[in-house]
Amino acid sequence: MKTVLIVGASRGIGLEFARQYAAEGHRVLATYRRSEDGERLRALGAQTLALDVLDAGSRAAFVQALAEERIDIAILSAGIYGPTTEGVEPPDPAEFDRVMRTNVLAPMALMPALAPLMVAPGGKLAVLSSRMGSTTLMNSTYGWLYRASKAALNNALKAASLAFAARGLVCIAFHPGWVRTDMGGPDADLDVIDSVASMREVLARANGSHNGKFLNYNGEHLAW
Ligand SMILES: NC(=O)c1ccc[n+]([C@@H]2O[C@H](COP(=O)([O-])OP(=O)(O)OC[C@H]3O[C@@H](n4cnc5c(N)ncnc54)[C@H](OP(=O)(O)O)[C@@H]3O)[C@@H](O)[C@H]2O)c1
Repeated sequence: MKTVLIVGASRGIGLEFARQYAAEGHRVLATYRRSEDGERLRALGAQTLALDVLDAGSRAAFVQALAEERIDIAILSAGIYGPTTEGVEPPDPAEFDRVMRTNVLAPMALMPALAPLMVAPGGKLAVLSSRMGSTTLMNSTYGWLYRASKAALNNALKAASLAFAARGLVCIAFHPGWVRTDMGGPDADLDVIDSVASMREVLARANGSHNGKFLNYNGEHLAW
């Protein structure tokens, strides 16, 4: 039985990670913001922690509440898309702050705080990035703020992978595929069950050779 922490487990990909790990009998620590989402997670068998990743006080209380834990797998799934732009319109500063604080600042605050709580060697720390954050694979301008945020997240994950390599942690940036969730929408390619099942298989197999890698949900390597 593993202890699995999922940040952003109220909906979508994070909720499905919580559901699948709990169904397999693992100990799931899952974060939520609205009380009804906490109740749903507890009904799945998860232990819940309130967390708004935008709020420094909430992040500090969350890390404090985990102080006695030894975490095998941590998955940072909380994220937002922000404005649905097509071209390179200058971002609204408030929207820029919200997207960058959610998608970049929060993981950069949480990864160093969680690393000492991870089982070492062998603990696995994954962030939900996006292929849209790949500079090499970019072939469109839509969602450029989101793209920039996920590129920055990828860069931060890579630095974290170097920082935590000595302790034997395995840090991975995942593209979950284009997934049918609130964010992905109803026309997306992949069912959330299949995306999450594939990422769980990749995580189960992951070893030191996967540290600092950007991986598709099925384990294929993606260019940064
Ligand atoms: N779906 C896709 O096709 C796709 C593709 C590539 C990458 N991704 C990435 O995968 C991750 C999960 O996406 P999803 O499709 O599951 O999105 P989603 O259905 O929109 O769910 C977003 C999750 O993030 C949480 N969240 C957002 N802001 C938060 C905050 N300030 N504090 C705490 N939690 C917060 C939400 O919690 P609340 O319910 O409390 O708002 C919710 O649990 C994201 O990082 C996304 O960028 C998704």
